[in-house]
Amino acid sequence: MTGLRTLPYAVKTECRRYDGRVAIVTGAAQGLGRVIARRLAEEGAKVVVADIQEARVKRTARLLQEETGQPFLAVAGDLSSEGVADDMVARTVGEFGRIDTLVNNAAALIRLRLVDFTEDLLQKAVDWNVWNTLRCCKAVLPHMIERRYGRIVNIAGEAWRTGAPFHTLLAGVGKGSMVGLTVTLAGETIAQGITVNCVSPGGIETAADGDPDPPTESYRDPSWTGPGVLEELAKIVGQRGISMGRPSHPTEVASAVAYFGAPEASFVTGQHIGVSGGMAMI
Ligand SMILES: NC(=O)c1ccc[n+]([C@@H]2O[C@H](COP(=O)([O-])OP(=O)(O)OC[C@H]3O[C@@H](n4cnc5c(N)ncnc54)[C@H](O)[C@@H]3O)[C@@H](O)[C@H]2O)c1
Repeated sequence: MTGLRTLPYAVKTECRRYDGRVAIVTGAAQGLGRVIARRLAEEGAKVVVADIQEARVKRTARLLQEETGQPFLAVAGDLSSEGVADDMVARTVGEFGRIDTLVNNAAALIRLRLVDFTEDLLQKAVDWNVWNTLRCCKAVLPHMIERRYGRIVNIAGEAWRTGAPFHTLLAGVGKGSMVGLTVTLAGETIAQGITVNCVSPGGIETAADGDPDPPTESYRDPSWTGPGVLEELAKIVGQRGISMGRPSHPTEVASAVAYFGAPEASFVTGQHIGVSGGMAMI
């Protein structure tokens, strides 16, 4: 693949921390979720990829199964709707017998000033950035509690703590609640063998996801990106001047997710890590 800035930073792995394990990755039809799914499979997991885009998630499952040699299951549906996450869990247990890791990656990239949201889009932004994660956590917990084992990894994003404009819904509400949920759910499940942790990417070059034949039309609705968003964000990144000055390759984010989701992260819960080239620091 040409024209990508981050290819020299692609992270490869020889770890096999997921042999015999089963992972669910939401929002995995494309982008970062697709790369996380591939990474967990490369480490030996059987993987369930769940996404609202039916055709694309089925295609991704087929391609990743061919590429990694691991079993994949595609689950299509809007995870914010009642019953869809429960169905995903039932199908996973039916097909693979267990769930070790849940990665809550699905989100809707809606970047507008709060005053510019319509009532409908406001509702959708909360549904697709908060309710999907809540429903997935609630759906997997009974199984994880019964087995006294579970790894939940939430994907947030640095804008929740950098005050980026146009991010009040996506980051302030969506990702901010993801961070709060990580801590409180970690506390709630601490005696039940379950860990809950969170990864915040900065900018990711998601086009470097390794899709050999990328879909032509974008999933994102153009009306979800307000005028001037990208210019204003570029100015802020320039002013701060402390970041590494490049987006991440998606595998750089996936490797942090793979750590939190693996058995070896057994004494780590309620934690957050920024994988953002220094965009935000402790
Ligand atoms: N791309 C970046 O630079 C960046 C930066 C910071 C954080 N993140 C976060 O990383 C994650 C992945 O980002 P991405 O750039 O790959 O995004 P993306 O929009 O390409 O992928 C998100 C996926 O989630 C799916 N999805 C959305 N709502 C859903 C729902 N209700 N039910 C089921 N599936 C649903 C979409 O269909 C899509 O395939 C997101 O949580 C995003 O907020 C991304």
